[in-house]
Amino acid sequence: MSLRHKDLLGLEPLSSEEIALVLDTAEPCKQIFDRQVKKFPTLRGKVIVNLFYEASTRTRTSFEVAGKWMSADVVNISASASSVTKGESLTDTAKTLEALGADVVVIRHRHAGAAHLIARAVRARVINAGDGWHEHPTQGLLDLFTIREKKGRIQGLTVVIVGDILHSRVARSNIIGLTKLGARVRVAGPPTLMPLGLRELGVEVYHDLDAALEGADVINVLRIQRERQKKGLFPSLREYVRLYGVTKERLRRAKEDVMIMHPGPANLGVEIAQDVVEDERSVVREQVKNGVAVRMALLYLMSGGEPRELQPAD
Ligand code: CP
Repeated sequence: MSLRHKDLLGLEPLSSEEIALVLDTAEPCKQIFDRQVKKFPTLRGKVIVNLFYEASTRTRTSFEVAGKWMSADVVNISASASSVTKGESLTDTAKTLEALGADVVVIRHRHAGAAHLIARAVRARVINAGDGWHEHPTQGLLDLFTIREKKGRIQGLTVVIVGDILHSRVARSNIIGLTKLGARVRVAGPPTLMPLGLRELGVEVYHDLDAALEGADVINVLRIQRERQKKGLFPSLREYVRLYGVTKERLRRAKEDVMIMHPGPANLGVEIAQDVVEDERSVVREQVKNGVAVRMALLYLMSGGEPRELQPAD
């Protein structure tokens, strides 16, 4: 079994078997954290370009660490320091990077479809690191990996995603991945921050967070994008915190061992309380670590690697 696709543009085109393959391959990759020499020789000679048109700490750094631990050469480009500022188009930039030897282009862009656009223009493999409101597939994969690692399964779990579902690429990739792997997904948030068509995706929609949390195994808290309030999509931050802020008090509705997730960056005291992030049931830091393992696995599989041949360098 291998990944059939040239690119990773979203979780939508992946089968449940392909998602499971990435998660299975990430397991040996994660063991690298316990090794003194953090190196797999497998991507020696490959060039990975991180092309980020939007700010990022976790995704950009973890792709860089993942590429380096797989022995690839990693180049980071931010839009502000590239010829984009002189008017170069996205496809021209991608073709230039390919001419410079890029085997993989990892792109983050504020517009949905940016990764698709360059994937059509170059032979290099393209990984979507977040495009507008569309998808953030590697975040979806690392969230699935973290749930499976901690809970032992995904099938049959009740997962609550709370916040701005409408504008969240993290929510979209999570919903697609979780439903493919058999979880029961509930989303909670204000009606103005819910997209249409959620029920058709097999998702249960709640506007009352307390009701959504009844019996939940996992809660994934989304960052509230403050600029949405200026556009009148919710009345005030104070009101949002009262209705949807995740506090220890509120978590009593969920199962005792509920797992607490946040993709970061978090607005502490807004969508999630500081003591919830620091709670022993929180896996927020583990998600960041798992981001490296999952991205290593992806880079390896997308370069034609066979999971059983994945061996660390001595
Ligand atoms: N979760 C996530 O995408 O974080 P960054 O914006 O820091 O990459």
